Amino acid sequence: MKIAMGNDHTAIELKNIIKEFVEGKGYEVLDLGTNSTESCDYPIYGEKVGRAVAGGEADLGIVICGTGVGISLAANKVKGIRACVCSEPYTAKLSRQHNNTNVLAFGARVVGSELAKMITEAWLDASFEGGRHERRVNMIMEIENRE
Ligand code: RB5
Repeated sequence: MKIAMGNDHTAIELKNIIKEFVEGKGYEVLDLGTNSTESCDYPIYGEKVGRAVAGGEADLGIVICGTGVGISLAANKVKGIRACVCSEPYTAKLSRQHNNTNVLAFGARVVGSELAKMITEAWLDASFEGGRHERRVNMIMEIENRE
């Protein structure tokens, strides 16, 4: 399974830690940058990851900026993407089980690397439960289709 990763300049160190962690769990990582410490615009990388996931180049995505907010908003603008910012593992796990999120976001200025690993692990290890949740997720996607 392939995980697309994207981040801005605030999150290079954390991205590399999480990339190694994810690879250690047996996933392939598609690193879409940035890998430069120069100040950059997070929407570029949120969109790149969103497009990689929506287009099938990757199965899931992980995006990181200072708070996780801006880059997740950008990823969510790509049709078919359900990204959410998580600062703890419980929300990360439930976001997959109930909301079928396909992009995980967190903030490099918010969570430390050990908590980020726990969040990532909880999210990757969980899977969509379907059933009543499927109808609700479909309702979310219909909002997108009506736009
Ligand atoms: C960059 O300073 C910062 O605004 C960005 O990393 C992110 O936190 C935006 O949501």
